[in-house]
Amino acid sequence: MDKLAIQGGARLQGEIRISGAKNAALPILCAGLLTADTLRLENLPKLKDISTSLTLLGHIGMQVSLDDKNGVDLQAAHLHTLEAPYDLVKTMRASILVLGPMLARYGEARVSLPGGCAIGSRPVDLHIKGLQAMGAEIHIEHGYIHAKVTRLQGARIFMDTVTVTGTENLMMAATLANGITVLENAAREPEVTDLAHCLIAMGAQIEGVGSDTITITGVESLHGATHAIMADRIETGTYLVAAAMTQGRVKLLGTRADTLDAVLEKLREAGAQIDVEADSISLSMQGRPRAVSVKTAPYPAFPTDMQAQFMAMNCIADGVSRVTETIFENRFMHVQEMQRLGASIEIEGNTALVRGVEQLDGAVVMATDLRASASLVLAALVAEGETVIERIYHIDRGYECIEEKFSQLGARIRRVH
Ligand code: EPZ
Repeated sequence: MDKLAIQGGARLQGEIRISGAKNAALPILCAGLLTADTLRLENLPKLKDISTSLTLLGHIGMQVSLDDKNGVDLQAAHLHTLEAPYDLVKTMRASILVLGPMLARYGEARVSLPGGCAIGSRPVDLHIKGLQAMGAEIHIEHGYIHAKVTRLQGARIFMDTVTVTGTENLMMAATLANGITVLENAAREPEVTDLAHCLIAMGAQIEGVGSDTITITGVESLHGATHAIMADRIETGTYLVAAAMTQGRVKLLGTRADTLDAVLEKLREAGAQIDVEADSISLSMQGRPRAVSVKTAPYPAFPTDMQAQFMAMNCIADGVSRVTETIFENRFMHVQEMQRLGASIEIEGNTALVRGVEQLDGAVVMATDLRASASLVLAALVAEGETVIERIYHIDRGYECIEEKFSQLGARIRRVH
C-alpha cells in the first residue's frame, strides 16, 4: 500500500489550482441518470471516488466518455441493470445517490445498503422515509434496498436531521415526480446548491435553492445540459490551514470565498491575513497561529469536514482550544495518531480539549478516514523530522494529486510505493 513520507519544516509559498468539488460531483454524476440526453460535466476532479462512481454508473449502463480536460459526457439512454451491487457500493457510501434518480426515471432500483464507515453508523433511513412518502414501496432484504413505484408522487417531507445526500437524493427523485415536493429542514451545503443549479439547467423546476425549504415541481422529463462543477471548498480550506500552520504565504486559484465564511472567520481569528478575489483566496501567516475553538454544524456553520484540519492547527497553536464534533459520532480517529506525533489532546465526549505545543515530532502514523488523513499531512508539515503516513488510499479518495500540489508549494513530500 502507498505511503506518504514528509519532512517537516518548510513554509508553504506559491500558488496552486483547486480542483472541482468531490461532494458536488458525486450527486451530479448520478443526475445523469435522470435524462436520456447527454449531460456534459466540466471541472471534474481526478479522484478515486469519482472513478468509483463512474464505474458504478457504467455498470448500470450509462455511457461515460471522459476527455483529457477534466470533462465527461454522460448518457443514460438505455440501462441494462437497475442494481447497484454491494462490491461497488461498499467502497463508496455516496453510491446511495443512484437510488433517487433510478426510481424517478425507471420506477425501480436495487441498491446495496452502504453499511457504516470509520466516522459513524451513517444510516440512510431519511433517504428511504422520504422516498416512501413519495409513494415508493421499499423492502430491505439481504442487505439491499429494493424500491419500486409506478410514478413518484410529490409530497411534503420533513427531515428531522439535516442530511446532505438525503436532501440530494430526494431532490433528484422529485424532479420527475407527479406534482410538487417540499423538502423541509433541507441541507443548505453549497454542494446541494450546485446540484440544484445543474438540475435546473436540465429543465427541473426548483425553488428555494440554498435555503432549508426546497420546493420541486415535477416535470415529465429532463433534457441534457452542460455544467461546470463548483470548486472544492474543503480542499481549499485544507490548503489554507496548511499555509497558516507553516506560517507561509499561498494563493489558491479557481476557488471562491463565499462558500467558506465560517472557515475564513476562524482562520482570521487564528491570526491569518486573508485576501479574497473573484476566483482566488490568498493567505499569509506571520508567527504562530492562535488557538481557536470550533464546533461543527450544518452549513453555513463550521463544516465537519474541516474539523480534523483545525485540530491539527490547534495542536501547534498558542493556547488551549476546544474542538466539538456534533455531526458524526466517531470523527476523532485522528486524535490518537496526532498524539503519536506529540500532540496534547484530551477527549471528553464529543469535545476534544487541545493544548497547543511548540513542536510536534515526526513518527509513523496511519490514515483512517479521508479528512483525518489530510489532517495528518498537515501535522507532518510542521513536525520535526520525517513522518510517514500509511494507508493513504483514504487521501486519494478526496484530494487530487496531493503530493504534487503540496510539492508545488515547497513541501518536502513524496509518495512511497
Ligand atoms: C455528506 O455525507 C458528505 N459526503 C460528507 O463528506 C460530510 O461530512 C457530510 O455530508 C456532512 O456535511 C458527501 O456529500 C458525498 P449526512 P452524508 O447525511 O450526506 C445522519 C467527506 O469527507 N443521517 O449529512 O452521508 C448521519 O448519521 C465526507 O467528503 C441520518 O441519521 O452526511 C449524520 O449524523 C465525509 N439518517 C448526519 O445525519 C440519514 O438518512 C449528517 O449526515 C442520513 C443521515
